[in-house]
Amino acid sequence: MNVQKLSQKEITDLLQGKDDKWLFEEASKIKGNIFGKDVYIRGVVEFSNFCKEDCFYCGLRRSNGCLVRYRLAPLDIMRCAEVADSLKIKTLVLQSGEDYFYSKEQIAGLIQRVKSRYDIVVTLSIGERRNDELKFWFDVGAERYLLKVETFDEKLYEQLRPGKRLSDRIGKVMYLKELGYETGSGIIVGLPGQTVDSISRDIIKLSELNLEMIACGPFIPHPETPLGGYPPGDPLTTIRVVAILRILNPSANIPSTSALSSFGEEWRRAGLKAGANVVMPSLTPEKVKDLYSIYPGKNSGYDEIFDAVEGIKRLIREAGFIPSESKGYSKRRLDEKCS
Ligand code: 5AD
Ligand code: SF4
Repeated sequence: MNVQKLSQKEITDLLQGKDDKWLFEEASKIKGNIFGKDVYIRGVVEFSNFCKEDCFYCGLRRSNGCLVRYRLAPLDIMRCAEVADSLKIKTLVLQSGEDYFYSKEQIAGLIQRVKSRYDIVVTLSIGERRNDELKFWFDVGAERYLLKVETFDEKLYEQLRPGKRLSDRIGKVMYLKELGYETGSGIIVGLPGQTVDSISRDIIKLSELNLEMIACGPFIPHPETPLGGYPPGDPLTTIRVVAILRILNPSANIPSTSALSSFGEEWRRAGLKAGANVVMPSLTPEKVKDLYSIYPGKNSGYDEIFDAVEGIKRLIREAGFIPSESKGYSKRRLDEKCS
């Protein structure tokens, strides 16, 4: 971790655009030194939009009675794995709301079926599950886990995630690391009540966790949530966060997020130029993809999965990079093993 590279004051200044030229050039240079022109593609299968939580920012929150809920059957999920395989996508992210309908054994069964049939890395993104479950899934072959902290500001966290505690969330992220998962976390930029100071503290705290994957996306208000009337996060500030995270975490995998691209695909390209090295297209079947509406417009903009993935590859090339067919294992971990 290279947090000492930038002081909190410097981070705050950079977030406000004091030296964009230096920031983006430095981040891009660091990314180039480590990843060359490669951009990794992760296919996301959003297999359930049920959620027992009630986060103020998210359209999947349990109090959103306007949302039609769905769960994909294991066979549908396996079809998504087949699509990933046919498109040479080597990572499948199994993502859902916090849905305890799926037992420990059912999730394990899915991991094993995907791994036995395809040469694909399985990433889980299914929330704060029990420690015994997390361990079991690692033992049966899941290799990566994403669990965003969202904000390290304790007061804001506990306001926006009712009944949840920031320390539990951070503890879970650390437990995932301890188990051996390539672990990812991240923050939302532009949440109501967030300040530049709190974002700069988030960046430092997130970097201190030494994670293999780090994400930040802009807040997008969802009308069916208590935050529906607030303004969205700023995409320019978000790519500054990407660039600062790249400088502080040179070898981490950092996505240019779908939330960023909802401001226009040029912002996804801008994220890649600012230091991101991963994109995560949705492979969720067309019949349900619109229902995974964490924020408005998520998963819109294409009809066919094939077109969406082709579109993403085109965008990567337009930004001056190369879509990689590698599994994109963490270079951060390889670095640590060598040192
Ligand atoms: N805007 C942007 N990102 C959001 N997320 C949830 N709600 C929003 C929103 N309104 C992100 C969170 C969460 C993931 C499911 O989506 O980071 O981890
Ligand atoms: Fe559920 Fe995650 Fe949305 Fe919170 S952010 S309501 S835990 S899906």
